[in-house]
Amino acid sequence: MPEAELERRFDPRIVAFFCNWCTYTAADLAGISRMEYPPGVRIVRLMCSGRVDPQFVLAAFRHGADGVLIGGCHPGDCHYQEGNYKARRRFELLRMLLRDMGIEGERLRLEWISASEGDKVARVCNEMTEQIRALGPLRLRAAPPRAGRPSAREAAGEGAGEPVVEEPVGEAAR
Ligand code: FES
Repeated sequence: MPEAELERRFDPRIVAFFCNWCTYTAADLAGISRMEYPPGVRIVRLMCSGRVDPQFVLAAFRHGADGVLIGGCHPGDCHYQEGNYKARRRFELLRMLLRDMGIEGERLRLEWISASEGDKVARVCNEMTEQIRALGPLRLRAAPPRAGRPSAREAAGEGAGEPVVEEPVGEAAR
């Protein structure tokens, strides 16, 4: 690939919340097996996919992630019985919320990956990186200051600079 093109290439930042018992172990296996996946995927290890609080996802986007990947044990294999079912319910709601905010649903992905599926970790990370690259960077901007008297929260310095979506993009614009 020519050097100028390489410089222009957008390398998506993806925050991956992986459950300790399955997907994180699979990511470890992928590393040990020398399978390649993009360095823009940053893994956060949690004990269970059910521990992924929706606020973690929103915070990841607010702090510059272009995509968020959640990985957990296959249905029926969760070490905490139903954590992955909880994750699946939250995922559906979060996707709707993101669409309402003008963020494409494809920027959030949920995958079941068992400890032996190192190859699947690499495939999903590569696929998602390409998908997000096609969408382009996520553009959030700080909320404009409101006219009039500041609220007590604003006066205390809270809530300033919270992101709003610059403009609807992709399917959200339709
Ligand atoms: S322990 Fe892996 S999803 Fe719950």
